[in-house]
Amino acid sequence: MWCLWTAVAFGQGDHPVGNIFNPQATPAESIAHLSVLVLSVCGAIFLIVGGLLAFTLVRFRDRGNDGHEPAQVYGSNRIEVAWTVIPFLIVFVLSMATARVVIAIQNKAVPPHALQVTVIGHQWWWEIRYPELAIVTANELHIPVSSLAKPAPAFLKLQSADVAHSFWVPQLAGKTDLIPNRTNTMWIDPRQTGTFLGNCAEYCGTQHANMLLRVVVQPEAEFNSWVAAEKAIAVDSGAALFFSLSCVNCHAVSGTSATGTFGPDLSHLMSRATLGSGAIANTPETLRAWVKDPQAIKPGNLMPNMQLNVRELDAVVSYLSSLK
Ligand code: CUA
Repeated sequence: MWCLWTAVAFGQGDHPVGNIFNPQATPAESIAHLSVLVLSVCGAIFLIVGGLLAFTLVRFRDRGNDGHEPAQVYGSNRIEVAWTVIPFLIVFVLSMATARVVIAIQNKAVPPHALQVTVIGHQWWWEIRYPELAIVTANELHIPVSSLAKPAPAFLKLQSADVAHSFWVPQLAGKTDLIPNRTNTMWIDPRQTGTFLGNCAEYCGTQHANMLLRVVVQPEAEFNSWVAAEKAIAVDSGAALFFSLSCVNCHAVSGTSATGTFGPDLSHLMSRATLGSGAIANTPETLRAWVKDPQAIKPGNLMPNMQLNVRELDAVVSYLSSLK
């Protein structure tokens, strides 16, 4: 099932594996460099200790031809100082290197024209707001590509509507938690276009594993046209049933009387690659299946089975399909 829909949902330029050793943004790159340093130091310690141990086991093994006990050595000040000072220095160097990376990432100054995004964690989806652009979307964060010549970092404000979640796109940055009644911040500056996959990295309830995330990195012109399309009012004539049902209590569609904020904003639903925060690909069949019974696809999610009959289902799906 997974393979089937990943084949459907991924196009060209996608980065399907979130490999932390292939970072594509500055925060992830600093962390990857630090990890390589820590791994090398720990690897060297392992080789030295393991090597000495192996050497000792072989060189001083019981050869069975000698009834004497070997010499017993106690209280060597030189050895004790060595095995205290050397580890202390190693830990000191690694903590300083770590502190430098943490500070460099956290204290990054916000340039005046940086893209500002507010990401709000919900059980079990991501609300994504661009306050300065007056755009609201869900689960797929669009940002322009950055380059060394023309840096375009996106600054994220992270909040939660219910429990603790964690925003993690391994190739772009480390994890940052979304905590109720608190605002955390992070930034990303991807230097490659394409779709980067992430997920919620803090257990937040039954469907934590299906709280998936996509960061769509686009060339500036493409990002600008996405912004323009998102700003366009999303309306269609076949909407009567949608608005007569309780859909509007939880969902918003821009330019209409649907202003619910409990569930994802549906204004440009058809522009998204997945449904249910990455639970399934967004196709006419899966959209119909989702509206028919969301609980069958993502059990425990907060959208109820509306018990629509076939005619109602057709009308609602046709309206949703028009939200381009
Ligand atoms: Cu949200 Cu785990």
